[in-house]
Amino acid sequence: MKFQSQAIAKPYFIAAIGLFIGQILFGLIMGMQYVVGDFLFPEIPFNVARMVHTNLLIVWLLFGFMGAAYYLVPEESERELHSPLLARVLFWLFLIAGALTVLGYLLVPYARLAELTMNDLLPTMGREFLEQPTIIKIGIVIVAVGFVYNIGMTILSGRKTVVSMVLLTGLVGLALLFLFSFYNPVNVVYDKFFWWWVVHLWVEGVWELIMASILAFVLIKVTGVDREIIEKWMYVIIAMALISGIIGTGHHYFWIGAPEYWQWWGSIFSALEPLPFFMMTVFAFNMVNRRRREHPNKVAVLWALGTAVMAFLGAGVWGFLHTLAPVNYYTHGTQLTAAHGHMAFYGAYVMIVLTIISYSMPIMRGQEAADPRAQVVEMWSFWLMTVSMVFITLFLSGAGVLQIWMQRYTEQPEAFMVVQEKIEAFYWLREIAGGVFMIGLILYVVSFFVKGGTAEMADKAVLDTA
Ligand code: HEM
Ligand code: HEM
Ligand SMILES: [Fe+2]
Repeated sequence: MKFQSQAIAKPYFIAAIGLFIGQILFGLIMGMQYVVGDFLFPEIPFNVARMVHTNLLIVWLLFGFMGAAYYLVPEESERELHSPLLARVLFWLFLIAGALTVLGYLLVPYARLAELTMNDLLPTMGREFLEQPTIIKIGIVIVAVGFVYNIGMTILSGRKTVVSMVLLTGLVGLALLFLFSFYNPVNVVYDKFFWWWVVHLWVEGVWELIMASILAFVLIKVTGVDREIIEKWMYVIIAMALISGIIGTGHHYFWIGAPEYWQWWGSIFSALEPLPFFMMTVFAFNMVNRRRREHPNKVAVLWALGTAVMAFLGAGVWGFLHTLAPVNYYTHGTQLTAAHGHMAFYGAYVMIVLTIISYSMPIMRGQEAADPRAQVVEMWSFWLMTVSMVFITLFLSGAGVLQIWMQRYTEQPEAFMVVQEKIEAFYWLREIAGGVFMIGLILYVVSFFVKGGTAEMADKAVLDTA
């Protein structure tokens, strides 16, 4: 570690992985409820498990982004973090807020939770991903402001690099766009319209900047390639992401009561959204091929390349599948949407967080890279999680195509539940793949405790698996 204060990232990463395990547990519970309808009923109803699954996902990814920023910003800025104390205080504030939210979801009915937290004073609850009680949302804003201040002060008073400036832009955007979660118009068209300003402009806008900068940072470190080369790529990627992503929001305006011209704008601009993801893939492989050094942390390189590929597949390819208005007319809100949601979130944001953890955690524990045996276990976890996510996506896509056909496309459409029963086999398969995913995740945790092995071992494992 070049700077002492980078170590503040460690608790953030540990919390992230802990919550990740919780997220997958609730995914498995829901996956089971899909096929055994009364599983864990009435203790954990489906809608509650869904909230916990998706909210934990967002919260742990935010922990991951914050940890990533605390780790890479001092190193890029060539100075200590502005205030390590603030970072520690905000860590606990965020963790407690997160834990209280999940407990609230699990222990009290949602309507009662809204009452208890005085949602009527400033109603913000009840929208997917943004279900948190208003008071918790205010807590999130406080954490975000303190965090952006801390990171911003460090960057602005130190060496300014393209990597850190792009990261800062992404983080400021993340914080600002979250403010739309407080705007909850009664008119349901406006409501949906602005809800996407958080959800879409996050994952298909500012989060892409965060992803690109973390990826660039790790690639510079493990390949030793000049940063000037990466910087040129970054300008183009960022411009493409914002140009396509901002107007691309229109792919959510097709059927919600927004003006009809959005069908054109949304289709055309969102069809360009795969480009920045594709460029990230090309640039990652380019960098690794031009590498000037053999970094001992092989598994971090694997994660970096894996992110670039899977983000393109999940966001770019599976996103494009249903983004044109005439297609989305049939596919909207089906299992195909869920297939895309899973692979895109995993490929882009889960994997980029695991990439930076994989790169930085050994350094924070006093080694340049984890022991070879530990890296081999981690590579197993990489493949188990990634391959099972591919299968989850394929099974949900299969379910989705049949659902679209039987329920919406044929001459004699069948009822929702009739169709659901016919595609049950896919849900069983999804659940099995989910179980394998969980095993991969457990191995990931195990890899932190494995020691020993020889350097050849890690080399060989990379060759075997790649
Ligand atoms: C890192 C891995 C995962 C990520 C990033 C993830 C992400 C998501 C997201 C974003 C949603 C909302 C989807 C939408 O509204 O279209 C969701 C829902 C869901 N997830 Fe996951 N998930 C993961 C793993 C799993 C696993 C392992 C399972 C279980 C086998 C699972 C089961 C479900 C189910 C059943 C839903 C609800 C779908 C519905 O409402 O019909 N997830 N997940
Ligand atoms: C990493 C980036 C991305 C993530 C994490 C992501 C995630 C998601 C999620 C979770 C949903 C379901 C939202 C809901 O209705 O609850 C969704 C919907 C959608 N996404 Fe993405 N997405 C990404 C990138 C893309 C890209 C690049 C495209 C287009 C090329 C795209 C096209 C769509 C479309 C058209 C929908 C609406 C589906 C429907 O009508 O049901 N996404 N996305
Ligand atoms: Fe979108």
